[in-house]
Amino acid sequence: MSEFATRLVAWQRQHGRHDLPWQGGHDPYRIWLSEIMLQQTQVDTVIPYYTRFLERFPDVAALAAAPVGEVMALWSGLGYYARARNLHRAAQMIVDTHGGRFPRTAAAIAELPGIGRSTAAAIAAFAFGERAAILDGNVKRVLCRIFGIEGYPADKAVEKALWERAEALLPATDVGRYIQAQMDLGATLCTRSRPDCRRCPFADDCVAYRDQRIAELPTPRPRKAVPHRSARHAVILHAGAVLLERRPPTGIWGGLLALPEIPPAARDPACWARERFGLAVAAPEPLTPLRHAFTHFVLELTPVLLPVDGLAPATSAADDGDLRWLALGERASAALPAPVRRILDALAAPDLFGGD
Ligand code: ADE
Repeated sequence: MSEFATRLVAWQRQHGRHDLPWQGGHDPYRIWLSEIMLQQTQVDTVIPYYTRFLERFPDVAALAAAPVGEVMALWSGLGYYARARNLHRAAQMIVDTHGGRFPRTAAAIAELPGIGRSTAAAIAAFAFGERAAILDGNVKRVLCRIFGIEGYPADKAVEKALWERAEALLPATDVGRYIQAQMDLGATLCTRSRPDCRRCPFADDCVAYRDQRIAELPTPRPRKAVPHRSARHAVILHAGAVLLERRPPTGIWGGLLALPEIPPAARDPACWARERFGLAVAAPEPLTPLRHAFTHFVLELTPVLLPVDGLAPATSAADDGDLRWLALGERASAALPAPVRRILDALAAPDLFGGD
């Protein structure tokens, strides 16, 4: 799309923002101040702060000479206060090491505290017409969508590809307007949610729009791999009722009645059931495993069917508050952890297990 910049700038002339207080001039101090205030903050919120700040500190020397407390007071309410502290420090550096003259290249501007590569490029382009690419969050989103760039944009490799793309797209002239156009497109049309694609000058070429992948691009932050734990749960069945055991007060399902958990060391679940509950059970039959996602891990549950063999259960497994026989027909009104309910539902309707 070689005419990318031409099309974007034509759109900006008609639909972009032209009357913002920091537009129209080339004073690097004012442009710098606006760019810092506009990080993480909406234009409407910034305007009154910007005006007040400039009234009190009309130039970099005034800012450098001010006590930091006064700078913070004027910033109060804008948030992200490190921005204000860095602004003040940078003003003092400009006075001390640059003789009060704002540095004139993106590379030199990026040396100041609180100014990253993209912000430095924006200041250099707006103030001095330097041909430097920007790549803020909005621009990343626009490029990922239009060119179908996959991968989480903060990943080193993806970010590198995005910078290369941003630089390759830079027009030869009128870079300030082009950069403003990129900002305007991202802020007003190609928004994170519900972008206004029908009004977009790139609707005919945008990969995300064409493939209906607006919600998937840019690729979201990858989810951290969650640990998996596994456990076997005993389904001790007698006369249409299952044996439930109260869980310890801490840990998953704390204090709830659930299927008894077979300790990992128990090699033979039938033996374990006999010792633990004094019940004679028939041969164990593993049922279909299921998964349950907790906040910090995924539990893989294997229910193990242990039908009580013939006789009535021994007294040790009688209802005593911590052990309870629950008739399957009463499970709907019992307070059960979701996976336990699923296991009992499947047990009551065996076809759900996909078996016989
Ligand atoms: N966001 C960041 N910089 C901006 C600018 N110059 N105009 C509008 N919004 C912006």
